Amino acid sequence: MKHYSLNLQTVSAIALMVVCFSAHAEAVDADAAKALAKQNNCFRCHGVDKDKDGPAFTKSAAKFKADPKGEEKLLHHLSSGEKAKFPDGHEEPHMILKAEDPKEIKNLVGWILSL
Ligand code: HEC
Repeated sequence: MKHYSLNLQTVSAIALMVVCFSAHAEAVDADAAKALAKQNNCFRCHGVDKDKDGPAFTKSAAKFKADPKGEEKLLHHLSSGEKAKFPDGHEEPHMILKAEDPKEIKNLVGWILSL
């Protein structure tokens, strides 16, 4: 009996650690992310769940969530001005996201990935 309860305690402790860890990893400030996106005019070309000239953020979330390098790729996408293909077929460098603190960029990427 003693042995069993000890095991249960260990299991709950691990479960708690896992919950805390993932909550921490996903701690995204959605309001700050949306404010930054608004400030940068991202919503001119992207809806949260509506395609405009660019894909809906929920679509990008689905695409990059499955990719272990998703966060890295999004950070690159938003900082490099890589080519973006528009619905009419023309290409132009994608807008570069501007923020005072790189943490804000990470937060915006985290928010997109959380959608
Ligand atoms: C002038 C229009 C325009 C603006 C402004 C714009 N985007 Fe985009 N974005 C696009 C287009 C077009 C694509 C599609 C690129 C492609 O598929 O080649 C795109 C693609 C993306 C993608 C998906 C990338 C991928 O590889 O699938 C994300 C995420 C994204 N934009 C985020 C943002 C954010 C965040 C901002 C604000 C800093 C922003 N965009 C501003 C037009 C825009």
